[in-house]
Amino acid sequence: MKLRQLHKNIGISIENVNLKNIDEITFKKVKKLWMKYLIIVFPNQNISDEDHINFGKKFGELEVHPSLSHRSSKNPEIYRVSNVDEKGKIIPNKETSWQYLKQSWLWHTDSSFRKIPSNGSILHGISTTKKGGNTLFANMYKAYEDLNKSIKEKIKNLSVLHDHDHIISLSKELSKKKDKGSYDKLDPVAHPLVRRHPVTNKPSLFLSPHTMVKIIDYDYDQGRQLLDFLIHHSIQSKYVYKHTWNDDDIVMWDNRCTMHSVEPFNNNTIKRIMHRVTLVGDQEPIMA
Ligand code: OGA
Ligand code: MN
Repeated sequence: MKLRQLHKNIGISIENVNLKNIDEITFKKVKKLWMKYLIIVFPNQNISDEDHINFGKKFGELEVHPSLSHRSSKNPEIYRVSNVDEKGKIIPNKETSWQYLKQSWLWHTDSSFRKIPSNGSILHGISTTKKGGNTLFANMYKAYEDLNKSIKEKIKNLSVLHDHDHIISLSKELSKKKDKGSYDKLDPVAHPLVRRHPVTNKPSLFLSPHTMVKIIDYDYDQGRQLLDFLIHHSIQSKYVYKHTWNDDDIVMWDNRCTMHSVEPFNNNTIKRIMHRVTLVGDQEPIMA
């Protein structure tokens, strides 16, 4: 394995591994590096969706995304993060499915709308772009660690209401539409604002701006202000690695201690196709 650190606080690239056929010793090393660096980039992984699924399953069960129209018709575990339909046609701006997907341009953590959110995500860049479409990843341990004592005291024991439908409410276009798309039904859930990672035992901020409705049992406006402050604090460049994609990069991230967003790109002219598998979480987030 050839290792290269990507940012002072987050991310490592691993070359010379073949994810189609990874031996147990290498897999164990990868898992350790993942816990240490939070984000792993594996360049040059020309793999099929089936290989991608098999690699994901080495970590456990895979999620099926609640949005029906973004599941691959062949493999429901593949979430199609793409502005191109399965026939290869660019999806027009006015389409509900694009408007939903575009919400990944907002900072978020995958499946924060579930009672047991995902442990991690593995994304395969199939058709990538360098004109926008970079993906940003923030180290939420470090963002938490650097908060001053009085803020740490203030946010201790707080819970946040997360709701899948908030993703839709935040979309200017979708919120006005009658047909908002088809999704599995998901009730709102409460998650700690500061969580403890079950493997590393370290505390981190748990933010997912696209599903966070409010702080529970807190003045609504003051709660929103506090969340906005924490979001702005966490997305400073000292905590963020920006990934510029090459085709056949595989990037995996830990949803328990990072959040991410996609930089806008011209979705009317550029084809950006990414396939994701999502690792089912093993427990509810632990309050730190
Ligand atoms: C995701 C996502 C990242 C990207 O797959 O979870 O938010 O780069 N997209 O498209
Ligand atoms: Mn995402």
